[in-house]
Amino acid sequence: MELALDLLDKNTLPRHIAIIMDGNGRWAKSQSMPRVFGHRNGVKAVREVTEASAELGIEYLTLYAFSKENWKRPRKEVNMLMKLFVSTVSKELSTLNKNNIRLKAIGDLESLPPDTLAALNNAIESTKDNDHMTLNLALNYSGRWELTEMTKSIAKDISSGSLNPEDISEESIVSRLLTSGTPDPELMIRTSGEHRISNFLLWQLSYAELVFSDILWPDFRKEELYKCILEYQRRERRFGMTSDQVVKS
Ligand code: FPP
Repeated sequence: MELALDLLDKNTLPRHIAIIMDGNGRWAKSQSMPRVFGHRNGVKAVREVTEASAELGIEYLTLYAFSKENWKRPRKEVNMLMKLFVSTVSKELSTLNKNNIRLKAIGDLESLPPDTLAALNNAIESTKDNDHMTLNLALNYSGRWELTEMTKSIAKDISSGSLNPEDISEESIVSRLLTSGTPDPELMIRTSGEHRISNFLLWQLSYAELVFSDILWPDFRKEELYKCILEYQRRERRFGMTSDQVVKS
């Protein structure tokens, strides 16, 4: 059987892939294990997908690791997740550097526990000159929160007189988002069979192709990623135009 990797068109790969990593809890439950077991095994999938993306030459990979809504989970699970972020980021730092991968993070980072923030900032600083791929972690992130912060920033600039309301444009909005300087994801993948955006990159996903995989995140491997990219390549991206216009352009 031909592998999805061989079927991929290397000339039309997305520059930016965003992933909602879902299904850790159900994966653990299916093995009668506690939810945290699923998160620990989810790290393997993070490693595989990062490696596969770097091998393909994807420029940006954004992973939804923790939403602002996730604080509502049991305290034990939240504490374990924060510890897992610290240990994973610290353990993988040398691999990131070896593979020339830059780590970035988006979200309300200042509200993370101090040791999580310190490990994150250390890895961000240590990898800042790497330029093969950017691995962007959405941590304590929510799309509505990001848009609210952007709105506050515009309001402040208007009240200080540095921005005229007539001059508000898509550019002035984009420059105030946490992803400023990063192209919008062309492909958004959500695992575990759920068909929702869950407050992820609400502005940036406007034209993204949404691909849903039934695989639970801890089982997501390189071949699954290739299949999702293949699905993206089979779709026609029209950006509001007609099918004829797209074929001609
Ligand atoms: C969603 O599955 C998963 C999370 C909220 C946590 C994701 C975190 C990891 C995979 C660890 C990765 C670490 C780094 C450093 C990026 P769920 O718990 O919502 O699953 P369920 O829907 O089956 O309950």
